[in-house]
Amino acid sequence: MIIALDGPAASGKGTLARKIAARYDLPHLDTGLLYRATARALIDAGERLDNEARAIAAARGLGLTDFDEASLRGREMGEAASVVAAHPGVRAALLDLQRAFAARPGGAVLDGRDIGTVICPDADVKIFVTASAETRANRRALELKGRGEKVDYAEVLDDIRKRDARDAGRSSAPLVKADDAVLLDTTNLDIDGAFDAAMAIAEKKAARG
Ligand code: CDP
Repeated sequence: MIIALDGPAASGKGTLARKIAARYDLPHLDTGLLYRATARALIDAGERLDNEARAIAAARGLGLTDFDEASLRGREMGEAASVVAAHPGVRAALLDLQRAFAARPGGAVLDGRDIGTVICPDADVKIFVTASAETRANRRALELKGRGEKVDYAEVLDDIRKRDARDAGRSSAPLVKADDAVLLDTTNLDIDGAFDAAMAIAEKKAARG
């Protein structure tokens, strides 16, 4: 069974994807880490984020084990990731790796921005996870604080709005709900509530076959 979760920054899709993967005992790929690691590699090499040729080379050089999450999860790297993710060549360079992950025997859970639309258009279950920008900014501020970053709520909200606009406005694989994805708004749900709602969606789809 392939389960695709898409949605904007800090919507809760990553947490949901991890929990759903654990429940079904499936491997999970957080595809945002691929774009974050690509941005990290460019920055470490002293290259500009708008250098598409270098960004493509960095993306091609990634392996699935290259993820030092601590250095990738910060606020700055989320911003940088959304810049490199807008290069069509970078997205193309990361396509096969994501599809190969999804094709593992037994299936997989993937979360990102274009899983249900581009990477796995035939996924068995597609959920588009969203929440209000203010709720997402609150969650992200708490998460960053927990990582020891100094955070200002207004700045985090501004980041979220900018990232929403960049991700939804790009021409290559923009953030958009797939026609056949089920919308899950987590604005008024805690983690357990969102998980129960997502499992109900998955079970219903799974039962239909
Ligand atoms: O955790 P958060 O939602 O803030 O970020 P993420 O999922 O790690 O993604 C970081 C950035 O990578 C996003 O803002 C997107 O621009 C990009 N991304 C993408 O374009 N396609 C994906 N499948 C995953 C992430």
